[in-house]
This record gives sequence, structure tokens and C-alpha cells, in this order.
Amino acid sequence: MKPNIGISEKNLQAVANILNTLLADEFTLYVKTRNAHWNVTGDNFSELHKFFEAQYEQLDGIMDEVAERVRMLGHFSIGSLNDIVKNTRLTEQKADYGTQNNLIKGLLDDHEAVIRAIRNEIDPVNNEYRDAGTGDFLTGVMETHEKMAWMLRAYLKG
Ligand SMILES: [Fe+2]
Repeated sequence: MKPNIGISEKNLQAVANILNTLLADEFTLYVKTRNAHWNVTGDNFSELHKFFEAQYEQLDGIMDEVAERVRMLGHFSIGSLNDIVKNTRLTEQKADYGTQNNLIKGLLDDHEAVIRAIRNEIDPVNNEYRDAGTGDFLTGVMETHEKMAWMLRAYLKG
């Protein structure tokens, strides 16, 4: 049964598409962060290994909330690796595991790309699609990425 929550079906579909694309980004960033957790090397291995674990756990929580929000809007979330690869805006370049800075900078770039994408979507979600709930939700997700990005950025000099 379709939700009767004061948003047209056309707008629900548009917002579900935005959320599913974000879900693909979150999943890709989750895998890339796990990759960093597994393959980081260097003097401060133990610290970074734990740091990346804390970050992928946060991403795990975000993607669950994004997927469940798609369901709240009466649509199905993507859930296959195939759809994730097809829909993500992020790329999986070959990570340079020998260089912590490259690993950290790569993840930082992805968080910042996600922040920029969400920031552009909040206004149409609120005003064009009239979905204040998702607008508020996306603002919260963006703030979480801003904090995660700061923590990555703090490892980099300059
Ligand atoms: Fe682990």
C-alpha cells in the first residue's frame, strides 16, 4: 500500500531516486573504508586500523537509515552489488596502500563529494518535492559526513 503522507507519487519517486543514489555512494565509501582498515600500513597502523573501523561502522549505520527511508516513502531500496556499482557517483581507483596520506586523501575526497551532492539536493527535496522529512534527514547525514571529513582531514598537513 502506498503511503498517504501528503507528497505526490511523482515526488516520492524523485526523492526515492535521490536516496538510492546516495545509498550507492554510502555503500561504496563503506567498502573503501573497510579496504583502508584492512590494508593500511605504517608506524601508526594500530591507530589508523581502529580509526577506519570506527568510520566504516558509522557508514554502516548511515546506509541502513538511507535504505529504510526509501522504504518509508513506499519504494524499494537498491540492495545488490550490481545496482550499487551502477548507481554510485564515486569511483574505486586503485588505492596506494603504501602511502597513508593517499589512502586518507582518497577517502576525504569521497566524503567531500558526498557532502557537495547532498547539499545540492536538500533545496529541491524541501521546496520542489515538498519532502521536509527527507530534507531534514539529508541535512543530518551531511553533518555526519562533515564531521567524518574533518577527522580524515586532521591527519593531513596543510
Ligand atoms: Fe577488522
